[in-house]
Amino acid sequence: MTLAILGCNGQLGRELALSARIKGLAAAGADLPEVDITEAASVRSFIASVRPSVVVNAAAYTQVDQAESDPQTAFAVNAKGPERLARLCAQRRLPLIHISTDYVFDGKGEKPYREDDPVNPLGVYGRSKEEGEQKIRSCWGMHIIIRTAWLYSPFGQNFVKTMLRLGKERKELRVVADQYGSPTCAADLARAIVTIIETLHRNPAPPWGTYHFTGLGITTWHGFAKAVFAEARRYMPLKVMEVIPVPTREYPTPALRPGYSVLDCTRIQRLWNATLRPWEESLKETLHRIFKEPGETDGI
Ligand SMILES: NC(=O)c1ccc[n+]([C@@H]2O[C@H](COP(=O)([O-])OP(=O)(O)OC[C@H]3O[C@@H](n4cnc5c(N)ncnc54)[C@H](OP(=O)(O)O)[C@@H]3O)[C@@H](O)[C@H]2O)c1
Repeated sequence: MTLAILGCNGQLGRELALSARIKGLAAAGADLPEVDITEAASVRSFIASVRPSVVVNAAAYTQVDQAESDPQTAFAVNAKGPERLARLCAQRRLPLIHISTDYVFDGKGEKPYREDDPVNPLGVYGRSKEEGEQKIRSCWGMHIIIRTAWLYSPFGQNFVKTMLRLGKERKELRVVADQYGSPTCAADLARAIVTIIETLHRNPAPPWGTYHFTGLGITTWHGFAKAVFAEARRYMPLKVMEVIPVPTREYPTPALRPGYSVLDCTRIQRLWNATLRPWEESLKETLHRIFKEPGETDGI
């Protein structure tokens, strides 16, 4: 069984390759510039050369603010690319696992969003991801779409790494405290995807469809930042003394963010046996990797 990973150099892509290796699953990865999901020919030749038994699309245009001024690229990567990929998977009868986002919701809810709750993205990034979901659903039945949120890892750019950098440089930080969500460790998501892939081939009628996967528990960006600093202090001195909670209106960004981004993840646990972990526990593990296994990560 071979897994093809698109977007293999991103946070999730790198964790997927690691998880597959640990489980003894063969994996081949592709990313820019060699394989561009917006160019059908390059994706087709990658898939033809790998001859995978399952495809995971972890490639995405993830710059939420930049998407507002570059909708063309956002839609090409997040909607048109996944549509073409789904058609290709359909031609070859390959299961497709695609990653989406909590930003398909407007965050005006007050209880965790379920998979079939109405979507209403607030910005270009969310709209492009939502269109990608729709295209996949209409092109190819053998798909699993996993919406996740607040993703972080030891790799690439993310909130945890930004906080570590700023915490070394500044005495005082102002962090948004009125957006609620569930930090998600990319390694936990990668392990869940590998579990799904292992189960797929044993199940003659897998429950295809849309799922939610995040860390367990709810916090704000402010709560997340404080937890990062509390744990990071065990490994290195930090300059930051005060983390001041601020409302979103004090931190204006080109793209609006959902205020309440909590996803109900019971379906993926029930139907795929996916393991969700408390976000604080996964954060501790990630910081340990960053500080104690620097050769295996990007560092700070
Ligand atoms: N990060 C989050 O907080 C978050 C939250 C919810 C959902 N998600 C979703 O989770 C998934 C994984 O996110 P992530 O954080 O791992 O993203 P990431 O670190 O930004 O990785 C995405 C990868 O895709 C690559 N890519 C971009 N355009 C491409 C193209 N045209 N063809 C091929 N590859 C391309 C990127 O390359 P470059 O770096 O060179 O552009 C990068 O290596 C995405 O679907 C994302 O929408 C993320």
